[in-house]
Amino acid sequence: MSEKYYLTTPIYYPSGKYHIGTAYTEILADSIKKYKQLRGYDTFLLTGSDEHGQKIETKAKENGKNPQEYVDEMAKMAKELWDKMEIDYDDFIRTTEPRHERIVQKIFDKLMEQGDIYKGEYEGWYCIPCESYFTKTQLVDGKCPDCGREVKLMREESYFFNMKKYAPRLLEYYETHPDFIKPDYRKTEMINNFLKPGLEDLCVTRTSFDWGIKVLKDPKHVIYVWLDALTNYITALGYMETNDELFKKYWPADLHIVGKDIARFHLIYWPIFLMALDLTLPKQIFVHNWIMMKDGKMSKSVGNVIYPETLINRYGLDAVKYILLRDMPSSTDEVFSPEGFVERFNTDLCNDLGNLLNRTIAMCNKYFEGKVPEYNGTPNNVDIEIEEFAKDVTDKFANEFENFEIANSLAEIWSLVSRTNKYIDETSPWVLSKEEKKEELESSIYHLIENLRRIAILISPFMKNTSENIFRQLGITNNNLKTWESLNKYDQIKETKVIQKGEPLFMRLDAEEEISYIKNEMGK
Ligand code: MSP
Repeated sequence: MSEKYYLTTPIYYPSGKYHIGTAYTEILADSIKKYKQLRGYDTFLLTGSDEHGQKIETKAKENGKNPQEYVDEMAKMAKELWDKMEIDYDDFIRTTEPRHERIVQKIFDKLMEQGDIYKGEYEGWYCIPCESYFTKTQLVDGKCPDCGREVKLMREESYFFNMKKYAPRLLEYYETHPDFIKPDYRKTEMINNFLKPGLEDLCVTRTSFDWGIKVLKDPKHVIYVWLDALTNYITALGYMETNDELFKKYWPADLHIVGKDIARFHLIYWPIFLMALDLTLPKQIFVHNWIMMKDGKMSKSVGNVIYPETLINRYGLDAVKYILLRDMPSSTDEVFSPEGFVERFNTDLCNDLGNLLNRTIAMCNKYFEGKVPEYNGTPNNVDIEIEEFAKDVTDKFANEFENFEIANSLAEIWSLVSRTNKYIDETSPWVLSKEEKKEELESSIYHLIENLRRIAILISPFMKNTSENIFRQLGITNNNLKTWESLNKYDQIKETKVIQKGEPLFMRLDAEEEISYIKNEMGK
């Protein structure tokens, strides 16, 4: 039986159309899922929407809708986008669904009964858009440290979760589980910024608005959004339900993927809630950085927002996925620029990958009438070297990918693309043909096709359509030649015929035209 791999994205606020930043989390998660599938795991990807809270209540009103109508529409829109992006999620949980609400109430009661939640009064600086209270010292220039907007001093009767009690246990957990948080520096941030200065108890209810899950025993309180939101990762699996088969099978999560802005909630509060519920902690939490624009955060008011649909409709899904993943460093934010996008498209996709396929197919047709020569040993050093290079790339790719160094892992694949392009010049099949060096010519074409097959496998988690297109053009139909395991061996392609005339994978873009196209679309 295959090993399970349960991964989650955050559940998204239904706050409008999603831009490429929000879409990034989903692209990343879907690519990791598809990679794990390729490695033989039984995967389960959860996503959804986070539909309660004051902000949503206000937003619905602004749109002349009641909150339920509003979130219904938004959830539909989200699903349409994920479908367009071919995101293969297994469940989409909405926090307004009964299956979620009733369990959150049960969880709240349980935590109260065992004394982890108590009643008190809260006063603090509250940021409405972020739905977060801050202490005075946390404010930056008197404004919200997360979004920079105005905060309001507010006071209300509230229930609190006793975070302090669990802080030492969490610290110890961090120390004894070095792979729990990726990348490492996020752990250091949590320790230095929150755990060392001393964790405050967390306010988990509100009386100031209605749009939330009511506390059963004190219904003027609604459960504050983070206790509600975070538990989606277990309610979706049927935790505390009579039918909890999925929960038994998939919990603990193997991976939570979150953006840096919500690191604190996932790296501190969520593990503590789980400890209080006496549940196993997720195996890993990966915090990714943000996609920024040259002039800072994407924002409608600045007019620098770019939507995934805009790019996908014009450049295709695979190009968008590749470029966004390829340009996200693990140590800093990614700065999206139309210039950078077009350059990557033309260089990596058209010139490097596209031409490699085209030249290979043309030569296979020219010298062998399209019939792929079979592996005939390793007649010369260049072949031995390219075989080793390709095998090495597989290992390096896997290593980087599993360490969530996604940009590096993609760079590894492209190093194979470049190396293989160079191999064409090194072996010069046109010279071999002229000199009638049949065996060497066969070997050269064989290695080109073989490396393209490898490339098609390696890119499949994030460029599924291109991968299938390459297999089709190479004439590879046998599914055994598309597996991860098939990367171990070199002499497998047999009785294969490439298509008669290669089709370009990507059409070269007119840089000037496309840069101004993207710029024009920004903020629309
Ligand atoms: N509802 C909360 C999450 C609750 S999880 C229990 C939330 N939602 S969100 O819609 O605001 O954000 C969803 C995801 O999108 C987050 O991971 C966030 O970091 C990510 N991004 C939002 N803007 C982004 C960029 N500009 N770049 C990359 N990711 C970004 O937070």
